[in-house]
Amino acid sequence: MQEIEILYDLVKNYLHFSIFFIIFVCFLCESAFYCFVNIYTFMSISERISGLLSQIESMSAANAEELEALRIKYLSKKGEIAALFSEFRNVPNEQKKEVGAQLNALKDKATERMNCLKDQFEQATQLQDKPDLTRTPDPIALGTRHPLSLVREEIIDIFARIGFVVADGPEVEDDQHVFGMLNFAPEHPARDMQDTFFIEKEQGVQKPTDILLRTHTSSVQTRVMTQQKPPIRVLCPGRVYRNEAISARAHCFFHQIEGLYIDKNVSFADLREVLLYLAKELFGQETKIRLRPSYFPFTEPSAEMDISCNICGGTGCSFCKGTGWVEILGCGMVDPNVLESCGIDSKVYSGYAFGLGVERVTNLKYRVKDLRLFSENDVRFLRQFESC
Ligand code: DAH
Repeated sequence: MQEIEILYDLVKNYLHFSIFFIIFVCFLCESAFYCFVNIYTFMSISERISGLLSQIESMSAANAEELEALRIKYLSKKGEIAALFSEFRNVPNEQKKEVGAQLNALKDKATERMNCLKDQFEQATQLQDKPDLTRTPDPIALGTRHPLSLVREEIIDIFARIGFVVADGPEVEDDQHVFGMLNFAPEHPARDMQDTFFIEKEQGVQKPTDILLRTHTSSVQTRVMTQQKPPIRVLCPGRVYRNEAISARAHCFFHQIEGLYIDKNVSFADLREVLLYLAKELFGQETKIRLRPSYFPFTEPSAEMDISCNICGGTGCSFCKGTGWVEILGCGMVDPNVLESCGIDSKVYSGYAFGLGVERVTNLKYRVKDLRLFSENDVRFLRQFESC
């Protein structure tokens, strides 16, 4: 009981002091607390600033969308830098100066980096738009030679080896050079087989001055013979036209090669020899030829030449209709009337001529069954001749 009284006296005497003491301790605790909070705020905002700074320094964008996403993440109103600025008010006053400087530097760095990326990106797209003339050019994809050109060049080459040169003439010709000088009498039925497209023509009358699309390259013979003196040894390749319904076997335009040789003492034997040489060079050394009598107004005698079928070798197959032979060209000795109409003395000179269809030879060489393929420009067809 005595102890309690002593404690009571103590509390009574030191009550003021105790209250003071408790208040003092509380005050110390609060200061320590705020001090701790301040230090924590400062530490965490500084750390986040330096974290963002290193992210911003290493950021990159591959395209405009990625660049915009970065702008939104860091620099927009709801971006990470704006969030730091709103936390800035919690920074203790004495650290505000330092943190404020860090924040401003962070914002400047982010803006500068963003502009830099934008410039790089724009430069790259500008480069894509404008060709870089300093670069090595891409190789131009080469096409292939047309099968008709391949065959034409091959035939020109075969005849060049025996002294024939190439001669040219117009596709738009007059009646005189296509028919008249080649011994086609006016109204002769042989003209009907070569109906064509007329450019200038008086209705119902045939005149040497009518203008038409040439039906054969034999017209170049007349041009050459009126312009050159014998000996003449020419090959005349070119396009010709006929009024035909278009089908797998006929077209309104096709290609021919005409051959003409005029000199003294040219005989039918010379013609046969040169045609045999052509057949062997074109279709192989084992190829045989045969000449069948025929009719052309501009040659006398006239013949049609067949070659031994290059599919069955002459034994007979569906391609040669079991005959073993395939027709390939028309030929003959130049009619004296033609020589005279071109101003060449038929008593001194003689000559032979022949004309072949380039499509026909190409069909035989490459087994093209439809004539229309040659003019459709379908690359799937044309690419098949890449290796020829
Ligand atoms: N011009 C004739 C035709 O288109 C082909 C021809 C046959 C030409 C006999 C010739 C030849 O030079 O002698 O059908």
